[in-house]
Amino acid sequence: MRILFIGDVVGRAGRAILSSELPKLRAAFALDLVIVNGENAAGGFGITESICQEFLDAGADCVTLGNHAFDQREALVFIERQPRLIRPANYPKGAPGRGANLIETRTGARALVVNLLGRVFLDAMDDPFAAIERELDACPLGLGCDAAVIDFHAEATSEKQAFGWFVDGRASLVVGTHTHAPTADARILPAGTAYMSDAGMTGDYDSVIGMEKDEPVRRFTTKLPAGRFEPASGPATLCGVAVETNAQGLAVRVAPVRIGGKLAPARPDFWG
Ligand code: FE2
Repeated sequence: MRILFIGDVVGRAGRAILSSELPKLRAAFALDLVIVNGENAAGGFGITESICQEFLDAGADCVTLGNHAFDQREALVFIERQPRLIRPANYPKGAPGRGANLIETRTGARALVVNLLGRVFLDAMDDPFAAIERELDACPLGLGCDAAVIDFHAEATSEKQAFGWFVDGRASLVVGTHTHAPTADARILPAGTAYMSDAGMTGDYDSVIGMEKDEPVRRFTTKLPAGRFEPASGPATLCGVAVETNAQGLAVRVAPVRIGGKLAPARPDFWG
C-alpha cells in the first residue's frame, strides 16, 4: 500500500496548498491512503465541518485531530456524523466521535487509523500506551486490517520515540504531530514500523509554529498579551511522510515529503 500522511494543516495558507497539491500527489503517486491532520485548520484552532469536507474532497481518506480537536464547538456535534474524522482515542470516556476507525480505501483495502495524545507538556489524558494496546488487540495488523497508521499528537520527542518502540512490528506507521516542525529521523524500526518523530506542519514557516510571529515574540519578551494569535498567511509548505507497506502491512519504504514555501523540498524517489 502507498500511504501519505500530511502534518498539521494550519489556517488558510495550509488549506490552500493542501487543496492545490493533494489531488496532484494522489494521482502522481497512485496513493492508496491519505491521512491529514486537521486540528489547526480553522484559523489555527480546531476544524469546521466544511473544512473537513474540503479535505476529504481534495483527496484525504480521513482527518485526524489533537489537543485542539474541539476548539470549534461545532466539531462536538458534526464529528458524530463524520466517521472519517478521528479525535484522540485517549480522551476521557464520553467524548464525542471516535478515536480510531477502520477506513476502507478506494482499492478496497482496510486501514486502521488511530489518533492519540501524548501526556508530556500537554493536558492530562488517559494512558496512550494502554489505549493503543486496546485498539491493536481489537484490530491486529495483518488480521483485522491491511495497514495501521497512528498519529501520535505529542510535544515530547522522548514520548514519541518510546511510543514508536512500543508498537514496532504492530503498526505500519507511527508519525508524530503537534510540534509543527518536521524531524529528520524518518526510518523503519527493526520489526517493520515506519517512524517519524514529527511530520511538520502544512503551513507558512515564516511564523512561530504557523502563527504571525509578532504576537508570540511580544508575549515571550513582555509576558503581556497584546493581540490575538493569527495564522501566518504567506506561501505554505506541505509537510508529511510517505510510506510503502508490504502484504503484511509492515513498512518497506519511508521518506519525508516537503513541497512549496520556505523549506527545502523533499519527495520520495521510490514512486517515480
Ligand atoms: Fe496540537
